[in-house]
Amino acid sequence: MNLTHIEHIGIAVKNIEEAKKYYENILGLKCYATEEVKEQKVRTAFFRIGQTKIELLEAISDDSPIAKFIKKRGTGIHHIAFATDNVNLSLLEAEEKGVKLIDKKARRGAEGLKIGFLHPKSTLGVLTELCEK
Ligand code: CO
Repeated sequence: MNLTHIEHIGIAVKNIEEAKKYYENILGLKCYATEEVKEQKVRTAFFRIGQTKIELLEAISDDSPIAKFIKKRGTGIHHIAFATDNVNLSLLEAEEKGVKLIDKKARRGAEGLKIGFLHPKSTLGVLTELCEK
């Protein structure tokens, strides 16, 4: 699949402004971008640490996947995103190996990345995102 690094870790939070305080004041990271991704009904905030980012996710509506996630499992790690040079090819390859997909084809994610998700049923319970610049 030719994954190169962990692109980001997605963390479900109730309130981004509150969560930002921990990442900035305690961990000393700097929020370099915030973005609302309407299609996914989330507001996001990004922090860079080396090659990897932390992506905070806050629901912007009650039917947001993040709202549902928090209701079911509480706040915390929501997904891990791996960088790949070709999301569509990686999705195809995973499917050929019997992995259940959430996305059959790449779609647009935050920061203009092309993204696609593998189903947690096929990934030992870890929602897995593949993304391409
Ligand atoms: Co993500």
